[in-house]
Amino acid sequence: MRRKRVLSGMRPTGKLHLGHYVGALENWVALQEEYQNFHLIADYHVLTTQLDISDIAEDTLEMLKDWLAAGIDPQRSPVFRQSQIKEHTELFLILSMLVTSARLERNPTLKEQVRDLKMENLIYGHLGYPVLQAADILLYKGEFVPVGEDQAPHVEISRELARKFNRTFGEVFPEPRAKLTKFARLPGLDGQTKMSSSLGNTILMSDEPENIQAKMRKAVTDPQKVRKGDPGRPDICLVFTHHTRFNKTQVKDIRGGCESGGLGCVDCKLRCSEAIAEHLAPFRERRSYYDDHPEELIDILRDGENRARTEAQATMAEVREAMGLG
Ligand code: TRP
Repeated sequence: MRRKRVLSGMRPTGKLHLGHYVGALENWVALQEEYQNFHLIADYHVLTTQLDISDIAEDTLEMLKDWLAAGIDPQRSPVFRQSQIKEHTELFLILSMLVTSARLERNPTLKEQVRDLKMENLIYGHLGYPVLQAADILLYKGEFVPVGEDQAPHVEISRELARKFNRTFGEVFPEPRAKLTKFARLPGLDGQTKMSSSLGNTILMSDEPENIQAKMRKAVTDPQKVRKGDPGRPDICLVFTHHTRFNKTQVKDIRGGCESGGLGCVDCKLRCSEAIAEHLAPFRERRSYYDDHPEELIDILRDGENRARTEAQATMAEVREAMGLG
């Protein structure tokens, strides 16, 4: 039987942090077992918010190394850059005729971005961000899209576009569905709700154990727990959240120690850093292999792009046929 298809994508922003891992990548790796996955590097999407993309080649390779380090298997699942497959732009153009600008202006993810980045003028291509994303998904007939909540509105627009195309020109696309990541958000080390590169509150997947320890040492904890002996509140502590994700076997013990006051923050952080470093150890090893063999990264992309292109071309042939474009 044909495996159901999963299309997952990320913009290439360089080295990934634990928030990316917990919110997306870990889930992608698990999905490989059951689905046919396509892993898209959304390089064109970067242009919606910045025109200086002089670092994009390096950022792409750094991100790819983290994907491979975490266990993405490029033989099972093609890994490819959007910009290397012309069919993305073709389908993007066609889909852009099937949605109103009012619909795109209502997109809550866009509104949030305009507010957070204080954009004054919205670029036409940025308004079309979800249309390009729909092309990414529909070209591979993606049925599931693993995303965090902020991306769910984009998957909804993809569904609407699939439906509209099918009704107008004939049945070509399955309607994709969002597969929401359960434990989507990891707090930043400064106590903000989200770990994010722009906030500078991250632990990188590629950080060395000493780095992890140094960053963790500065992490914000429960302000009521001033010294060892004071009882703490693990449920409001970001270090505890990291324990629940990376230190499952000790988590009960940590909660008890924090609440009773027996465990101080210094010790707790040390144990947390160790657990994270241990979790990441096999990743670091795989990553360093690719640091030494950059030519293999190029081969992985080239191979993934060939396979993705074959799929994309087959879909576009159906699209043209349905539309009578010959
Ligand atoms: N918009 C997604 C993000 O910022 C990245 C992306 C681009 C994507 N194309 C995609 C995700 C297709 C899923 C499917 O996270």
